[in-house]
Amino acid sequence: MQTLSRFMFLAALTVMSVAQAAPRDDILAAYAAQAKAGDAAFAGVSAVRGEALHRDRHAGGKADSPSCTSCHGENTRAAGRTPVGKTIDPVAVSVAPTRYTDAAKVEKWFRRNCREVLGRECSAREKGDWLAFMITQ
Ligand code: HEC
Repeated sequence: MQTLSRFMFLAALTVMSVAQAAPRDDILAAYAAQAKAGDAAFAGVSAVRGEALHRDRHAGGKADSPSCTSCHGENTRAAGRTPVGKTIDPVAVSVAPTRYTDAAKVEKWFRRNCREVLGRECSAREKGDWLAFMITQ
């Protein structure tokens, strides 16, 4: 299932890249298409849900990283910090305009960070929601 959904993500991305829109919009649209493919009732990504995903404390992941804000910080426009003290550039698009433009990088970090925080991979809807939130930031 994971493999299939990842395939659908890449397939959707390939179709949309042909349209030559901005890479970040393509990535967001591909997550939305993947979410829709998995749930006919899906009605679009939500920055509000994305903010909740980002700020809520979750159970199931690692004890020292219960939230996305554990590393990325409460302020999306400020630098974050990993548990070992490595600085992370801000995640808000307004101050980090080159972010979320490389689909492979985005996928790699969603996979890794969702496991750390939630103890599982994020769904396409969750990824789309989180990106939608960061685009508003
Ligand atoms: C344990 C620390 C940590 C936690 C917790 C964490 N992240 Fe990250 N995240 C990082 C690091 C380190 C990077 C890579 C460095 C960078 O992009 O500046 C990163 C990068 C990312 C990227 C890629 C950004 C890009 O430019 O393409 C996404 C997407 C992301 N994180 C989403 C999340 C989400 C969603 C959560 C919560 C479910 C989360 N992160 C929680 C450390 C963390």
